[in-house]
Amino acid sequence: MKAMRVHKYGGPEVLVLDDVLVPEPKAGEARVKIEAIGLNYVDIYQRTGLYPLPVPFTLGMEGAGVVDAVGDGVNEVKKGDRVAYAMVLGSYAQYAIVPAWKLAPLPAGIDVESAAALLLQGMTAHYLAHSTYALKKGDTALVHAAAGGVGLLLVQIAKQIGATVIGTVSTEAKAALAKEAGADHIILYSQTDFAVETKRLTEGRGVHVVYDSVGQSTFNQSLDCLRPRGILALFGQSSGPVPAFDPGILAAKGSLFLTRPSLHHYTLDRAELIQRATDLFSWVAAGKLKLRIDKTFPLREAAEAQRQMEGRKTTGKVLLIPE
Ligand SMILES: NC(=O)c1ccc[n+]([C@@H]2O[C@H](COP(=O)([O-])OP(=O)(O)OC[C@H]3O[C@@H](n4cnc5c(N)ncnc54)[C@H](OP(=O)(O)O)[C@@H]3O)[C@@H](O)[C@H]2O)c1
Repeated sequence: MKAMRVHKYGGPEVLVLDDVLVPEPKAGEARVKIEAIGLNYVDIYQRTGLYPLPVPFTLGMEGAGVVDAVGDGVNEVKKGDRVAYAMVLGSYAQYAIVPAWKLAPLPAGIDVESAAALLLQGMTAHYLAHSTYALKKGDTALVHAAAGGVGLLLVQIAKQIGATVIGTVSTEAKAALAKEAGADHIILYSQTDFAVETKRLTEGRGVHVVYDSVGQSTFNQSLDCLRPRGILALFGQSSGPVPAFDPGILAAKGSLFLTRPSLHHYTLDRAELIQRATDLFSWVAAGKLKLRIDKTFPLREAAEAQRQMEGRKTTGKVLLIPE
């Protein structure tokens, strides 16, 4: 089968479309014939070595398709089931091996492209808004990169709950998308000091929570956006990792809370994973959560897809389709 692999860390040019053997599922595992692959920022961290993995490895943390074989003892899914999954390495390929407990069966109204566009970024938005800081009606949240993959979903989920949402984006075109997703206020953080603007919009009070996936370039100002005892959920670093800092700063800026959550720890078992996936599928089916599939590339063009994501040229979701 074809698999897009990394043999050495580096830029998008290090991706190689290799011919490898179709893998066999072991006990507790299923083999999925991949029909759609979700592109995520984590793929870039793994390719560059920011999140190091032993090489060579097949990229990709999200996929959807059809179960084509199962190992011993699998009772969660069977051959022929349509499924999607997230947070298992190796989806940039024609087939992938996945622990069966991590597979979410697709309800009738959800096609594989939508599932591959939804699960990883959607479950992230779900846990951020419902678990990391459980938003309440009337809360105010600041969402960075609000027109990105996670961003557009998080804005919509926060609005469903009844929060006021301030979104940051880098361009006017992205501002329009975040607004359409329901953001109450947009700040062009490429042009405006977003901490000053957030304080102005909240009449000096600050927000209850900042959902910050941008990291290095936003971290310090994000702390300045919070009200006393507010929480900074730092869930990514698309601008680079945040350097070491003195925790005393959290006291000085208002007895703040800082957490660095990962989807792994918010889908700890099948019950938690299926609960989040079921919510997402039902919201999409009911039209309460809109998916934006921005671009679709054949798997062999994964490098170009990643270039565009790193270059801030994508909004919403990017999919890869294996040939
Ligand atoms: N912890 C978790 O559980 C978890 C799970 C999923 C994703 N994440 C994180 O969430 C973030 C968003 O992921 P995503 O897949 O949805 O990607 P994305 O938001 O679609 O793309 C990243 C966006 O970050 C913004 N950005 C700001 N500064 C940037 C820079 N210097 N270089 C590149 N982009 C920059 C850009 O939006 P603007 O042009 O509007 O600034 C860009 O479009 C990533 O940091 C990812 O690692 C974390």
